[in-house]
Amino acid sequence: MKIVALSCTQRRLPSLTDALLDAAVSGLVRELGDARVQRIRLIDHRIAMCEGEDTCLDPAVGRCTLDDDFEHVVGLAEGAQAMLLAMPVYAGNVPAVLKIFQERLKSFMNADRRPFGNLLVGTIVHSRTMLTEPALAALFPWYLRLKNRNVASACFTQHGHQDLTRTAATDLCVAVGRQLGMTLDAVRSPTEDRSAPPVVQSPGRTALPVVQSAARPRCGDAAGASAEA
Ligand SMILES: Cc1cc2nc3c(=O)[nH]c(=O)nc-3n(C[C@H](O)[C@H](O)[C@H](O)COP(=O)(O)O)c2cc1C
Repeated sequence: MKIVALSCTQRRLPSLTDALLDAAVSGLVRELGDARVQRIRLIDHRIAMCEGEDTCLDPAVGRCTLDDDFEHVVGLAEGAQAMLLAMPVYAGNVPAVLKIFQERLKSFMNADRRPFGNLLVGTIVHSRTMLTEPALAALFPWYLRLKNRNVASACFTQHGHQDLTRTAATDLCVAVGRQLGMTLDAVRSPTEDRSAPPVVQSPGRTALPVVQSAARPRCGDAAGASAEA
C-alpha cells in the first residue's frame, strides 16, 4: 500500500517538520507491514505560483502549462491511498510552499483524475507559539474538495521547549501515524483491489435503547419551586 509523506516546511534538512513526520511514518509502518512510503518535500521541487490565467481549464489545453516540477510531484503521489502531511505554521497559516501547491492542483478541477485526492489523511501542525489549530482548520476546505478524509491530527507549539522532538510531541505523531495505519488496515479486505482508493465503511452498529433522562422541571415551574423550597 502506497502512502505519501508530505513535508511542507520551507527549511533545509534537518527540520522539525521532517522529524515529526518521521515519527508519524514510524507509527504508520508499525501498523501497516506493507506500507510503501513516498516522501515528498515540497520545497525541494521547483513549483511556481499559478499565474491565474485559467489556461488549464480550457478543454483544448486541459493541463497546467507552467514548465516546472509540478507534474513530477503529482506523479510521485500516483497510486497512493493515504497521506501523512506535516507543516509548520507560517504567518498564522499554511506555509506558502503548500498554498502554492494547493493552487496548482486546481488545474485538475475538470480532469478525470484527482491527484492528492481520495486519500485517508493524518495531519501534523506545529508552531513556535500559536495558531496551530486555525492553520489545521485551513486545510479542511482543501481536503473536502479533494475528497480526502482526515482520520487523525496533532497540533503542537514549542513555547519553552525548543526541541519538540524531546517532548511528548513525538509520541503523538507516532500515534497519528498508527491511527492512519490502523484505519487503512481496517478498511481493506483481503480480496480488495489494493490499487483502488479505500472506502471507509461504518462498522455494523448495534441499536441501543434510547435512554431518556427524567423530565426536568423548568426554572419557574411550580414543581421546580417546590423542590427548591
Ligand atoms: C516565515 C515564518 C513564519 C512563522 N509564523 C509563525 C506564526 O505565525 N506563529 C508561530 O507560532 N510560529 C511561527 N513561525 C515559527 C515556526 O512555525 C516554527 O519555527 C517551526 O518550528 C518551523 O518549522 P520548520 O523548522 O520545519 O520550518 C514562523 C516561522 C517562519 C519561518
